[in-house]
Amino acid sequence: MSTAAISARYALAQSIARQAGMQALEWFRKRDQLVIESKGLQDMVSAADKDTELYIRAQVLAQFADDGFLGEEGGLDREDAAYLWVIDPIDGTACFVNGMHAWCLSIAVTYQGKPVIGVVFDPNSNEMFHACDGQGAFVNQQPIHAHQARSITEGVLGVGFSHRVPVSAFVPFLGRVLEAGGMFIRNGSGALMLSYVAAGRLIGYYEPHINSWDCLAAIVLVREAGGQVNDFLANNGLHKGNPIIAAGAHIYAPLLALIDSDTAR
Ligand code: IPD
Ligand code: CA
Ligand code: CA
Repeated sequence: MSTAAISARYALAQSIARQAGMQALEWFRKRDQLVIESKGLQDMVSAADKDTELYIRAQVLAQFADDGFLGEEGGLDREDAAYLWVIDPIDGTACFVNGMHAWCLSIAVTYQGKPVIGVVFDPNSNEMFHACDGQGAFVNQQPIHAHQARSITEGVLGVGFSHRVPVSAFVPFLGRVLEAGGMFIRNGSGALMLSYVAAGRLIGYYEPHINSWDCLAAIVLVREAGGQVNDFLANNGLHKGNPIIAAGAHIYAPLLALIDSDTAR
């Protein structure tokens, strides 16, 4: 693995996230003009998502024409390339179209199948979460670290749910969290909540099914911030998605114990 090749992509991922994020913010401010299409139950898309993804794809390929690209809206090109960009142009679309601030852009790069670069940009709060293999994790220029909690009672857990899984695969878990004295929050953006795990704002995050473009960037962030994450890419997670479990190193095992064994292991 060439350090220079990784560094060039790390810098590019951050600069594209910022430029594309400012464009998405313009869309957000005139969101009443957007036509919203449904992709499924509680799953929507607009021109803001599609345009932002096209912009990111063009910027990446202008610099690295041979790299692969997987985007939520436009799909996959050149999967066999050594470097694969996995991006969600807007994570938290339900918040975006309804005027709430919990949305972000998520850009990951894998090298020979391993996620090595993670960038999550929140334009509303001007927070750029970024991490590169072996270099630590940061929000803007500030180093970040996952939470040191040992008990579920010591902080707030992030959760996510989509109708891609049955309700029954999730609700019992929430009951167990509350009975153990825990508390949960769902803000509508899995990528942002996972970045908050890296920043130690949340003690952990669980969602019974998430897609690779939602979480690969934040997986690098959590890992580099000293947290723990499940083997998300196992069993074709890149294409089909998987459960995601991410947490501070000491709270990962207690969180796993609260998750139903049929759905998450
Ligand atoms: C969704 C959000 C949500 C998560 C879903 C995702 P979208 O992405 O991350 O928080 O629970 O699994 O699909 O549709 O806003 O890009
Ligand atoms: Ca998403
Ligand atoms: Ca999206």
